[in-house]
Amino acid sequence: FKDFVSAEQVDEKSALALINRAEDFKAGQTVHFPEPIYAANLFFENSTRTHTSFEMAERKLGLTVIPFDPAHSSVSKGETLEDTIKTIGAIGVNIAVMRHSKDGYYKELTGAWPTTAIVNAGDGAGQHPSQMMLDLMTIHEEFGHFDGLNIGIVGDLSHSRVARSDMQMLHKLGATLHFAGPQQWYDPSFDRYGDFISVPDLVKQVDVLMLLRVQLERFNADNREAFSKESYHAKYGITDALAKTMKPNAIFMHPAPVNRDVELASDLVDGPRSRIFTQMQNGVFMRMAMLEAVINARHFGEE
Ligand code: CP
Repeated sequence: FKDFVSAEQVDEKSALALINRAEDFKAGQTVHFPEPIYAANLFFENSTRTHTSFEMAERKLGLTVIPFDPAHSSVSKGETLEDTIKTIGAIGVNIAVMRHSKDGYYKELTGAWPTTAIVNAGDGAGQHPSQMMLDLMTIHEEFGHFDGLNIGIVGDLSHSRVARSDMQMLHKLGATLHFAGPQQWYDPSFDRYGDFISVPDLVKQVDVLMLLRVQLERFNADNREAFSKESYHAKYGITDALAKTMKPNAIFMHPAPVNRDVELASDLVDGPRSRIFTQMQNGVFMRMAMLEAVINARHFGEE
């Protein structure tokens, strides 16, 4: 992985290798790179988990983290993203972890500076590969395999880069996928990965129930006014009553932040089926594995 930007790059073998490596890190393994590596985190969209988790992963790997504040950067004076990468590359940054609202922003940036890797921390409604990888790790930790697992993804599918990345990868790994939620948030192009069914039908048959955040910030003013949290929860959310119809060993996942009592009842977020905070813990170790793979490919000639 000379850059790590989308699910398309990841095949079954490399996904399993990254999961194993992340599990090693979780078990306490450490790594020492023989030369200094510099990372910068360029978050042009808000983030709590991904930003903090990447920085924790970088520090645990012994990288030097160079601060970058988009609001006070020269992007606010009109400098392009490409010139920004060239600039931090010229200054000596080896890894640029970036989140930006523009779908596919990374296509113009990989290779912009020959010694600077791009790691995508989320592009618009495009891809979120580190969330995808930590989701895979969390499912693998629970069930030990993907083949034949029934996985449901519910909610705001069309706005979700998490859904896009996860459905591509889980389908590749042999999981059976089901989708549910408001019809207007379903894109028929998802048919190639799974079927669209009702929320109650989905809930009772899945091993993994992934909820997606309703992304109010991506709605326009008219949509937002028409949207009621209570009616969403009643029609498409996971209520306590609906949760009782789940298979005995089924788990909840959610990329977070969670709109409590919208996507799922608040007590279920903290309940025994929830792996939402495990996902966040695993994110640090998976991001260590991803960054290590990029560093090895760039600096030490490993693929
Ligand atoms: N899951 C996720 O991407 O969370 P943040 O937006 O807080 O990074």
